[in-house]
Amino acid sequence: MRLIHNIGELFIPDVTTAPVVNDVPLSSLRDAWLLIEEGAIEDFGTGSVPVSERDAIDAQGGAVVPGLVDSHSHLVFAGTREDEFVLRSSGKSYLEIAKAGGGIKRTVAAVRAASLDELVDLALPRLARMLANGVTLEIKSGYGLTIEAEIKMLQTVQRLRDLQPIELVATYLGAHTLPPEYRSNRSAYVDLVMSDELMGRVAEEGLAEFCDVFCEETAFTLEECRRVLEKGKDYGLASKIHADQITQMGASRLAAEVGAVTAEHLEHIDDSGAKALRDAKVIAGLMPGCSFYLGVPQAPARRILREGIPITIATDYNPGSSMVESLPLVLSIACTQLKLSPSEALIGATLNAAAALRRDSRIGFVAKGMEADLVVLDAPSVDQWLYQVGRNAVRTVLKKGRVVYEKP
Ligand code: NIG
Ligand code: FE
Repeated sequence: MRLIHNIGELFIPDVTTAPVVNDVPLSSLRDAWLLIEEGAIEDFGTGSVPVSERDAIDAQGGAVVPGLVDSHSHLVFAGTREDEFVLRSSGKSYLEIAKAGGGIKRTVAAVRAASLDELVDLALPRLARMLANGVTLEIKSGYGLTIEAEIKMLQTVQRLRDLQPIELVATYLGAHTLPPEYRSNRSAYVDLVMSDELMGRVAEEGLAEFCDVFCEETAFTLEECRRVLEKGKDYGLASKIHADQITQMGASRLAAEVGAVTAEHLEHIDDSGAKALRDAKVIAGLMPGCSFYLGVPQAPARRILREGIPITIATDYNPGSSMVESLPLVLSIACTQLKLSPSEALIGATLNAAAALRRDSRIGFVAKGMEADLVVLDAPSVDQWLYQVGRNAVRTVLKKGRVVYEKP
């Protein structure tokens, strides 16, 4: 038995299933307590505490929220690309830099050259900083683009599971960009991505749960993406799509057609794409930190919500388009730039994000029987937390009821 008491605000959206359109009413409790039994939420309430517990956690009037779920990241990588950051600050665009030989390809070269041990060593401090921001998350491959290097990236994720407390969900993104050695032979690379030797092995060895594609002018066409995702489904990999990020090619409609769990980015989503997502019940994954980082327009979040589509908010943490590790910072950006309220943004990084990773039966909610993945904040309310942009107010993180991080 474990008690958290003296909670300023216990964050509880008034829903029982996920995903939800983010503007739902809240049933959050003030001056609350919460009881944990065998790693799960046993009970919670307000007023006098039902048990006396020597080992209690005093929230000191701070808010308690579900453990944050970062549903889109590219956390396993080697090398950095600060020169591209500097070029963008002088006016060059992401696309111009990519077309001039920069972009994903450079990280591919660095990942290919790195050993599995090196990738693990590079990822561990990133994960430790993520944990200090209250996070469990998803990690994509896609910087290997050979059988060996894609498998190495996914094995890195596997290895990392035993070395730190964050739950990691792996996504296979072989169709991230066309590797240089296939420049004059696109279809051979798409065949490789879908092959028994690569996709088949990823599925058979349980190296990933999802298959993702980058549907973009500089990456893969609609038809190529469709082939990869359909084949992924045959292998039992659920679909995700990097859609409508830089150009409008109809990728949201493809997400609907293949029954993707999520369509992500959506900075350039159009009306027919939004309607398709709504009708097919595809979750819209937004990454406002990425647009902030690239200095480009944001996805039309309010328009997407008005259509009745649930939204997730994630970091898209990667060395090129979003070197942003802090999910709370990204939630604050969602408030100022996407015009989401703090609770709408937080729903996008808790219950909706858990649904985007198919874990909503276990995590993402404060509800009886859910795993006790919780964050105790050094701020009395969710509003006050996200209002303090860029200040890390995470005090304690619990995973299945166990304290896995405490602010030093
Ligand atoms: O999500 N969109 C595709 N992939 C990344 C960019 C990766 C990179 O530039 O290294 C993204 O923004
Ligand atoms: Fe991405």
